[in-house]
Amino acid sequence: MSKIGISRRDFMRTTASGTLAGSIFLEPKSIAASPRPAPPSDTVRFGIIGVGMRGSGLLSTAIKLPGVECAAACELYDGRATLAREIVGKPITVTRRYQELLDRKDIDCIIAPVPDHWHHRIVTDCCKAGKDVYVEKPMTHTVEEGFEIINAANRYNRIVQVGSQEPSSVVYQKMKELFAQNVLGDLCLVEAQMGRNDYCGAWGYTVPPNLSPQTLDWETWQAPAKEHVSFNKIRWTRWRCFNDYGEGIPGDLFVHHLTGIHYALNITSPPQRAFTQGGLYRWKDGRDAPDVMTTVYEYPGFSLTLRVTLNTDTGEGFNFMGNHGIMSVQGVENPDGFSITPQDGLDHSPCTPGWPNPMRQIYARKWHEEHDAQPGTAKLIPTTNYEVPPHYDSTREHLWNFFQSVKTRQPSIEGPEFGNACAIACHMANYSYFNKTVAIWDAEARKIKG
Ligand SMILES: NC(=O)c1ccc[n+]([C@@H]2O[C@H](COP(=O)([O-])OP(=O)(O)OC[C@H]3O[C@@H](n4cnc5c(N)ncnc54)[C@H](O)[C@@H]3O)[C@@H](O)[C@H]2O)c1
Repeated sequence: MSKIGISRRDFMRTTASGTLAGSIFLEPKSIAASPRPAPPSDTVRFGIIGVGMRGSGLLSTAIKLPGVECAAACELYDGRATLAREIVGKPITVTRRYQELLDRKDIDCIIAPVPDHWHHRIVTDCCKAGKDVYVEKPMTHTVEEGFEIINAANRYNRIVQVGSQEPSSVVYQKMKELFAQNVLGDLCLVEAQMGRNDYCGAWGYTVPPNLSPQTLDWETWQAPAKEHVSFNKIRWTRWRCFNDYGEGIPGDLFVHHLTGIHYALNITSPPQRAFTQGGLYRWKDGRDAPDVMTTVYEYPGFSLTLRVTLNTDTGEGFNFMGNHGIMSVQGVENPDGFSITPQDGLDHSPCTPGWPNPMRQIYARKWHEEHDAQPGTAKLIPTTNYEVPPHYDSTREHLWNFFQSVKTRQPSIEGPEFGNACAIACHMANYSYFNKTVAIWDAEARKIKG
């Protein structure tokens, strides 16, 4: 029986089309609920840097986990300092200087849901200060930063966990198990997609009315960016649209597909090549980032086509295609489940195109004698559906896994080498788009080449 009250049961049912389909309910790993509050010696105390869209969700979820406590928060915008206090609901220190959190001996680890141009600096500072760190996806803003993060984690022996939650999801874990059993045979092609059709989905977030140089420490916020820009409300609110801070569609959205694919297929290196086509067709509001991108990636043994549009709602998901069938996943960041429809990959009738009649008939008779199923022996090939329980939240599992690594010193479920390979795949998509060339990963030089 799982924690959420759904017992494991496999059953067969008949679909509308009359074919047999089996459903399997996936059982989440239960997050142990403490019968009583964890003793202080067993409590993980974290500080959070950045309490924005993602940070507010992570903070709300983390403080409900057993044996986990928020000790302090850091924010550069006063509105979100207020939000941090509202979420925690008891007095905590909220500062504009994250170094104050790193200096505190009573803080074990840091959660860092800051914009991407800050990831490298905060992660390396955390490692130097002896703090484990959960950094949001994509792990890096540039290729070079990834190897520096890996070095810092190793040098200071710190847990670094990247925040794309897919590896902690019971869906991707089941997919990984099934791929290891070769359920699809030779996997040759993966298609993945996502589509949105509103300004909010295209990162057109509303500017808070009180945002000003007084309520926001703009100079610090923009400090790691290459170019100095004076106070700009739009850039703070919609940073994903600008190459100085984010990586557009690849860094915000592809990264979830890529993390799920890399995890499920046990891929630990960047793809070999990438080619991107796309454009900025609709949201011409001064942004750098295109609103449509299709990238074709080449991995050893298979191709991946990844398509995102911010101009049409298309739903989202994946098709993993092999000679033994298709695995279809509904959703990406928090999928509802997936299905496997097997195929036998065999001819089901004689293959004699353009043969003269007599020759074809003789061959066909022989073929049917040898290949037709005997009455009563035909096998049904059912689709199997794997479903997650209602309200399942893989981010909660991901945070839990991080805090467990902090306690046990076991490697995190999504360490910096893994995060780096996914981030490089994102950078390759942008490199190809902005340089109008095929992006090639040079593993020896640790560089993307055109
Ligand atoms: N895993 C997911 O599903 C998921 C979802 C959304 C966002 N994200 C990631 O989370 C990160 C944050 O995204 P967001 O949408 O929450 O951005 P956001 O702009 O809404 O929030 C970021 C906050 O960090 C603060 N900040 C920036 N630099 C800071 C610093 N040096 N010190 C203190 N505060 C600082 C900003 O003031 C802002 O309030 C990004 O890397 C994004 O890709 C992940």
